[in-house]
Amino acid sequence: MMDASRSNGLPFAAISGPGGIQFVEPLLAPDFKRNGFGSSKDMPILSLQDVSKDYLTDSQRVHALKGLSLNVDRGEFVVLVGRSGCGKSTLLNLAGAMDFPTSGRVLLDGVATYPLNDSGLTRLRREKVGFIFQSFQLLHTLTALENVELPLLLAGKANARKTARERLAWVELDGLGDRYPHQLSGGQMQRVAIARALVHSPSILLADEPTGNLDTATGTVILELLQRLTREKNTATLMATHSLEAAAVADTVVCLRDGKIQEITRR
Ligand SMILES: Nc1ncnc2c1ncn2[C@@H]1O[C@H](COP(=O)(O)OP(=O)(O)OP(=O)(O)O)[C@@H](O)[C@H]1O
Ligand SMILES: [Mg+2]
Repeated sequence: MMDASRSNGLPFAAISGPGGIQFVEPLLAPDFKRNGFGSSKDMPILSLQDVSKDYLTDSQRVHALKGLSLNVDRGEFVVLVGRSGCGKSTLLNLAGAMDFPTSGRVLLDGVATYPLNDSGLTRLRREKVGFIFQSFQLLHTLTALENVELPLLLAGKANARKTARERLAWVELDGLGDRYPHQLSGGQMQRVAIARALVHSPSILLADEPTGNLDTATGTVILELLQRLTREKNTATLMATHSLEAAAVADTVVCLRDGKIQEITRR
């Protein structure tokens, strides 16, 4: 199984080599080209059904998730909280089809992640999921606009530049597209990363501690931006965080403990 982009956080396979990072997108399976992935307004965007995840290291088994079930709906902003090691990142990796459950099922917009082959997974991740990370994961040799545009170019989409400009406007960075990441503040870099995550109009944004490298005030601005975009674009957001402010912007707070849901609070 291709373990695409765990290393660099981008929704396509990436290989590091002497010449830098190369991006590889496998050919699409013909049936997906023809039919695409279905989508229904009624079904949850994300459904975790009795999901368990074990890791094996040095012949030791770690039970990272233990029979967890969770649905996330379109337009819903869900925050995952809990102590370090409780399983937040593991859950996000399964939700983004970057990894697979030991038992149970994960459905993204009604499509089970497990039986898909590499090309199907690549397409599912690209069409359904946008990823946002604590360390932004921007390519430093590209401008902000080029960073946002790149996934579209790799997917062979028309009007890539126009769409990238539009996404930068969504995150209120219209004027800064020509700057390189080192010419941006942390909050601005995270906005670029959010614009890139939204470039394929995904069903769900998955964010792993997106405010972890930002001061509290900038972090709050980013949270409010994610809240606004989740509503306006009718996507969904599932975000792992240690930020206390996050609970204030979330529709739903899911508290994990030792790989299980301890409590769900809906506002
Ligand atoms: N690749 C892996 N191999 C082995 N064990 C892992 C792996 N990834 C995570 N774990 C273990 O699974 C459990 C859950 O880890 P996870 O990274 O999901 O926690 P987390 O809630 O995201 O923590 P943090 O708040 O520190 O980011 C931990 O016990 C961790 O050590
Ligand atoms: Mg984590």
